[in-house]
Amino acid sequence: MFWNYLMNWMTNDVAIDLGTANTLVYVKGRGIVVDEPSVVAIEAETKKIIAVGKKAKEMLGKTPEEIRAIKPMKDGVIADFEITEAMLRDLILRSQQKKFLIRPRVIVAVPSGITEVEKRAVKESAEHSGARKVYLVSEPLAAAIGVNLPVHEPCGNMIIDIGGGTTEIAVISLSHIVDHISIRIGGDEMDEAIVDFLRKKHNLFIGESTAEKIKVKIGSAYPLKDELTMEVRGRDLVSGFPVSMKISSEEIREALSETISK
Ligand SMILES: Nc1ncnc2c1ncn2[C@@H]1O[C@H](COP(=O)(O)OP(=O)(O)OP(=O)(O)O)[C@@H](O)[C@H]1O
Ligand SMILES: [Mg+2]
Repeated sequence: MFWNYLMNWMTNDVAIDLGTANTLVYVKGRGIVVDEPSVVAIEAETKKIIAVGKKAKEMLGKTPEEIRAIKPMKDGVIADFEITEAMLRDLILRSQQKKFLIRPRVIVAVPSGITEVEKRAVKESAEHSGARKVYLVSEPLAAAIGVNLPVHEPCGNMIIDIGGGTTEIAVISLSHIVDHISIRIGGDEMDEAIVDFLRKKHNLFIGESTAEKIKVKIGSAYPLKDELTMEVRGRDLVSGFPVSMKISSEEIREALSETISK
C-alpha cells in the first residue's frame, strides 16, 4: 500500500496515442498534456533533433538541404524507428512535471490490425524512450472507452476511427473486439490525392500541409448545399512562378472520390 503510494507520487504513468498524424500523451490525473503533430526535424548530417511537433510540421516541404522534416509513422505503424524513439522520448519528457525519479509506466494505443512484429517495434520504441513498463491497447477499444460507449456490456458497440494513416472499424462487446477491419487509408492519402489532382489538372504544385488545409476547409464526400471555393497559393509547374488560383469544392470532391470509395 505504502509502496504503491510512493510509486504513484514519484512517477506519472502515461497513455500515448502514437498516431500517423498526431501523437497525444495523457497523464493520469492531469488529462491530455501533449498533443503534437508526429513530425520531427533533424539536421541531415549529424541527425541532431532540431524540433518535434508543431514547429517541425511547419518546416515540412520547406526545409533547406541541411535539415529534414520527417514523419516517422506511416499507415499507423512505425516507419522510422530511431526517429519515432526520439519523438517519443521528447514527448514523454515534456509530459513529466518532475524529472523521472522512477520511469513511468506507459500504455500505447496501436491499430487493431498490426502484426506481432509491428507490436514489438512499438513496445521497444517506448521502452527505449524511457518507459519502465509498456502495455499495448487496441485503438478502437481505447477510442470506444474515450467516447463512453458501454464496452463492458454484452451488446455490440461499433466504432469507426478515421485517422491520418488508418481507418479502423470495430465491434466491441464485453470489453473485447468481436470483429474489426483496419484499412491503411486515411487523411494522409486524401492530402496526397489533392496534391496529385492539382498537379495534373492545373499544373499547380502545392505541399502536403496546403493540401490538408484545403481538405479541412472545402473537402467533402457528398455534394454540398452551398458549394465552396478557396484561393490556393502554389507554384506553376510550367513557369516555375508562384501563383494563386481559385479552387472549388466540386474539384476537391472529385480529387477525393477515389480514396473515399476505397
Ligand atoms: N475537420 C477535418 N476534416 C477533415 N479531415 C480532418 C479534419 N480534422 C483533422 N482531419 C484529418 O484527420 C487526420 C488526423 O486524425 P488523427 O489525429 O485521428 O490521426 P492519427 O491518430 O494521427 O492517425 P492514425 O490513427 O491513422 O495513426 C489528418 O489527416 C487530418 O488532416
Ligand atoms: Mg489514431
